[in-house]
Amino acid sequence: PKRVRVHHLRQAKERGEPITMLTAYDAVTARIFDEAGIDVLLVGDSIGNVMHGRSTTIPVTVEEMVPAVRAVSSAVDRALVLADLPFGSYEADPRQCFETATRMLKDAGAHAVKFEGGAHLSEHVELLTRSGIPVVAHLGFTPQSENLLGGKRVQGRTEDAVERLVGDALALAEAGAVAVVLEMVPAPVAARVTEVLDIPTIGIGAGADVDGQVLVWTDMAGMTAWSPRFARQFGQVGTELYNATRAYGQAVRERTFPGEEHSFAQ
Ligand code: KIV
Ligand code: NA
Repeated sequence: PKRVRVHHLRQAKERGEPITMLTAYDAVTARIFDEAGIDVLLVGDSIGNVMHGRSTTIPVTVEEMVPAVRAVSSAVDRALVLADLPFGSYEADPRQCFETATRMLKDAGAHAVKFEGGAHLSEHVELLTRSGIPVVAHLGFTPQSENLLGGKRVQGRTEDAVERLVGDALALAEAGAVAVVLEMVPAPVAARVTEVLDIPTIGIGAGADVDGQVLVWTDMAGMTAWSPRFARQFGQVGTELYNATRAYGQAVRERTFPGEEHSFAQ
């Protein structure tokens, strides 16, 4: 299959074709998502919560991200692989951002990077873009700032906050960002950002009037009992895995596994 590239994202927006994005953290699942035709696989710093049992994304390190990005990059034939830059690895200045981003491309095979924050990161976006690294911005609720934001809360409810959000999105687009993720933003606000930008918006908890959607795969697949209000469980993979595991354990205890067909003759 033909690889998804950043210019396809812009084309999709122009044609009104929704962009599909899903998180992935390993080769096994990335292969499935790629075969299923997802356009962009995001190796999110949500790996901290989802895979490593942390309660936030704040402790996630570059050393944890790189092997995950490498696993996903190795597994896909079509999807664009987008790597999150973890908290503390890019904010200080454009150079720090550039150094972390180059690791994601050189050591791990990512095609683009994403990081959280507004207009104050314009120079970061500019340097990476000039250097040939596509950047996806991330606005609205930005989990790495949850200590300042006061928890997991919808952003852009007041008129001031909406103005700031639109200004941030325009500044980052002007700096060269290829797309913007909007997380937990009121649907009409996300629609307005989508209208003013030439680059695509990808929503999560941002309503339907955006250019694409992203979800954490475990929320989408019903891997866990709880999932956020903005996610739909499109399957019950957690229950299926539980049932398979029960059946395996029972078969071993009853000695119905392994059978002749699983055994080697002398
Ligand atoms: O890390 C992540 O999974 C993300 C998405 C929720 C956009 O940043
Ligand atoms: Na993230």
